[in-house]
Amino acid sequence: MVLFVDDEEQILLALKRLFKFEPYTVQFASSGASALELLASSSEEVEVIISDQRMPSMNGTEFLIKSREIAPKAVRMLLTGYSDMQVTIDAINKGGATRYISKPWENQELLEIVRSAVEKYREDAQSALESRNLLEKQQQDQEQFRSLFDFLAGFVDLNAVTSKLHATRTAELAVGISVSLGLTPAELEKVRMAALMHDIGLNALSSDGGEMSPECMTEAQYALFRSHPVIGQSMMRTVESLNDIGIMVRHHHENYDGSGFPDGLAGSDIPLGAAIINLAGSVESDVARYSGKLPLAQILEKVAARGGTEFDPKLISHMLRVAEGMYSGI
Ligand SMILES: [Fe+2]
Repeated sequence: MVLFVDDEEQILLALKRLFKFEPYTVQFASSGASALELLASSSEEVEVIISDQRMPSMNGTEFLIKSREIAPKAVRMLLTGYSDMQVTIDAINKGGATRYISKPWENQELLEIVRSAVEKYREDAQSALESRNLLEKQQQDQEQFRSLFDFLAGFVDLNAVTSKLHATRTAELAVGISVSLGLTPAELEKVRMAALMHDIGLNALSSDGGEMSPECMTEAQYALFRSHPVIGQSMMRTVESLNDIGIMVRHHHENYDGSGFPDGLAGSDIPLGAAIINLAGSVESDVARYSGKLPLAQILEKVAARGGTEFDPKLISHMLRVAEGMYSGI
């Protein structure tokens, strides 16, 4: 809908004649106040507002400013009979007018200006709708991906080395440490996914290798066990969006002092997510192994003592804070 506001009856009549056959609704108001009323009660979307400047009680600029509250997206224009630059500048800056049209106008030119304003409004509305739909679709896809991922991660837990739900609990602890470190939601989600999948490579080994703890393995079994981070990463290679997660999976057995595997990375060369998962996974294994035999504080102390050798020392205080809360019930 297009709305014209002018206090002169003759002008409104001329506009009515000119816009009679246009393919959109046209409304007319003879004052700022009645135009605002019309805007507030209109059930139709107001696409373009064209107001005269010189009107008694409320001038064009004042009306345009007020109209922004009711119809913020409408295209606004000022119809002005005299060349007062300040008025035009105010209408543009404060009233949100995109242009001014001088009186008297050229019929064909005015028709074209209004047509292209209506078109611009509709295009903007359409593209806003499209980008909102796209965003919604992306969110849906992301949620679907997450549920599918979590579903598959459940299989890793079925074959856990040290305890059932090892991956789920490791992920919980790793997320807690990540939050405590102040990681962004996107980084946090990657750590969570990598933690859920960190031992997926064990599923590719024989069922013996998957169920035994490293201490009880033969040399050959242990060699196979040591390959599980690389196997895990290669299982994810086909999914491009899992590449970062694959890197964390590959390095989750690297030690801070460089004594870990598969690449012997040390210190800050170890991806932070991998270092978090290494620590969280070890806490989880030790809690599962010693709970009921040792008090929680002592279990956590034993893990904390490995800071600087196995684990990144700057993660220890964060781990303690999160683990104390998470395991306090056991
Ligand atoms: Fe592992």
